[in-house]
Amino acid sequence: MLLLAVTLLSFSKLSVIAQSNLPDVPAGVFEVSTRTEIRTTTAAVWGALTNFTAYPEWNPFVREATVVTPFKISLPEQYPVEGANLIFRTQIPPLPLPVDASTPDKLLNTQYALEIITHVEPDLLRLAWGNALFPSAVLAAERWQAISELSNGLVLYESREVFSGALASTLQRLYGTGLQQAFDAQGDALKLLLEV
Ligand SMILES: *[C@@H]1O[C@H](CO)[C@@H](O)[C@H](O)[C@H]1NC(C)=O
Repeated sequence: MLLLAVTLLSFSKLSVIAQSNLPDVPAGVFEVSTRTEIRTTTAAVWGALTNFTAYPEWNPFVREATVVTPFKISLPEQYPVEGANLIFRTQIPPLPLPVDASTPDKLLNTQYALEIITHVEPDLLRLAWGNALFPSAVLAAERWQAISELSNGLVLYESREVFSGALASTLQRLYGTGLQQAFDAQGDALKLLLEV
């Protein structure tokens, strides 16, 4: 009887596990994540996430993203390509919404990051890049973003980044809260950009 109750309980728990299109990745020291439901199409979300040129016009977290070759030469095509590097100028915590291309940075919150694009999967609607500044023993951090259609007709935008390595707990102490706010703000900004 007890066993049955436990089984029923775990089934009912299973049924409420939220839909996700993010891959399963090993846990780290800490992670930040967000999920936002947007009244739009998956193609529109993919278009916004992959068009780096337009980031300054809407993104309160990544204010500028430049695709560069391993020799840091800016590429003419500013779209994600696996293996290319990205230089980000970010705001952690994020700028208040809404932002446009002329919204000034808060200098104290400006951080630069060098990333490597690890996954560009238009068929799966997933995109990922990771820290390229430190060896992974020092800091491993891969940010996934995923898009999927919900049964209610809305589009689900998700992002998750797992941090590990020797620097991760320091990073968590300094930027954990600001990064979580930044992930949430980017989801909110996508909604603002794409819902008409
Ligand atoms: C990317 O964004 C730029 C700047 O807003 C825009 O001019 C361009 O048309 C966009 N590209 C695509 C493919 O939407």
